[in-house]
Amino acid sequence: MIEWNSDYLTGIDEIDLQHQYFTMLINRIETKISSIALDEGHSPLLNELIYYARFHFLSEENVMAEAGYPELDTHKRLHSDLIEQLNNEIQMLESDLVEPTHIIDMLVSWFRVHTLEEDGKYASFIVRQGTLGTAH
Ligand SMILES: [Fe+2]
Repeated sequence: MIEWNSDYLTGIDEIDLQHQYFTMLINRIETKISSIALDEGHSPLLNELIYYARFHFLSEENVMAEAGYPELDTHKRLHSDLIEQLNNEIQMLESDLVEPTHIIDMLVSWFRVHTLEEDGKYASFIVRQGTLGTAH
């Protein structure tokens, strides 16, 4: 379980709300993962995760583009890699190729590595630049 705390804040309100929602979603999936793994076809909760990821990445890319973040293309590549990895994980889970906890490990490391480290880079650029008010 990931417990949300203020160390995770980036300083960009809409991104922080979305990241917080992401931790709730991971925790909900973790709680229900054994029954999710038994679902025929796409589990509704995993569908929510896919939609969340696409929506959230687009939000971040819009924030970065509006602020003129120079590493936007690199960050976009990280996002498309994560979407691909997520689709692979879900496919492996649905084909019984991995233990259900495999996807939880992936989501937790996504949160720790991508959300906290990579997103911290663009967020501190934007906060430092002081473009917050003008970017929205
Ligand atoms: Fe990101």
